[in-house]
Amino acid sequence: MAKKQKKNKRNKETTNPVALITLMDQSSPISEQYRTIRTNIRFASSSDHEIKTVVITSSGPGEGKSTTSANLSVVFANSGQRVLLIDADLRKPTVHKTFNLINNAGFSNLLSTKEKLVNLVQETTVPNLHVLTSGPKAPNPSELLGSSRMEQVLQELREEYDFVIFDMPPIVAVTDAQIMSSKVDGTLMVIREDVSRKESLYKARDLLGMVNANVLGAVYHGAKNATDQGYYYYGS
Ligand SMILES: Nc1ncnc2c1ncn2[C@@H]1O[C@H](COP(=O)(O)OP(=O)(O)OP(=O)(O)O)[C@@H](O)[C@H]1O
Ligand SMILES: [Mg+2]
Repeated sequence: MAKKQKKNKRNKETTNPVALITLMDQSSPISEQYRTIRTNIRFASSSDHEIKTVVITSSGPGEGKSTTSANLSVVFANSGQRVLLIDADLRKPTVHKTFNLINNAGFSNLLSTKEKLVNLVQETTVPNLHVLTSGPKAPNPSELLGSSRMEQVLQELREEYDFVIFDMPPIVAVTDAQIMSSKVDGTLMVIREDVSRKESLYKARDLLGMVNANVLGAVYHGAKNATDQGYYYYGS
C-alpha cells in the first residue's frame, strides 16, 4: 500500500540572496579579511600545483558557503583576474539571487547538454566577474558532477578563467562537494560559530580525506570574540 507522502518543508524554495559586503563597503574590516583569504590562497599556489579551481563547502547547512563564495569571487575579480563563480549547489541555488541574474539556464545545462560555456555564463556589475548560475533543477546532481562531461568542463574552465569558485552544498548531507573536491585544485571549508557542529566537522574531514582532497584551510566566521575587528580568518 502506498504511503501517504509527507510534505517536506525543507524542500521549499526558500533561498535568499547573501550580503555582498565586499561590494557595499570595500574598506570594511570584513572586506579586508576576504582579501587576506585571497592572499593566502595565492600563497598556497605553486608552479607545480596551481590553484585555479576551488570548491567552497561546509559540513552542514547555513554555515556561510554562499556568502564566502560570492565575496571571495568579488575580491579575486577586484585584483584584475578573470573570475567565474559557479553555483554548483544544484539543490539549493542562491547565486542568481545574490547577483540579480536570471536562472533560466546555467551549470545544469552545461553538464547535461551540448550547450557552450560562453552561451551560459553571465556578466555581473563587477568587472572581471562572470557567474554561471545553477540552471534548472536536475534530478541527478551527483551523477552530473561525477560525469566525464564534468572533466571536460573543468579543462575548459581552466583555459578560459584565471580563477573559478564552486559554491557547493554541505558535504555531510550529500556527496556533491566530496565529488568535486576530488577534481579541483583546492577545497575551502567554511565554519560558522554556533552553527557548525563538531561531529559534522569530523565527518567532513573524513569525507575529504577519503578522496584525497587538497584542503586549503578553513574560513571561520561569526565569531563573537574576534580581536581584530573582522570576524573571518583563514588557516591551514
Ligand atoms: N557571519 C555571519 N553572520 C551573520 N549572518 C551570516 C553570516 N554568514 C552568513 N550569514 C547569513 O546566514 C544565512 C546563510 O548563509 P549562506 O547562504 O551564505 O550559507 P550557506 O552555507 O550557503 O547555506 P546553504 O547550506 O543553505 O547553502 C544567510 O542569510 C547569510 O546572510
Ligand atoms: Mg549556499
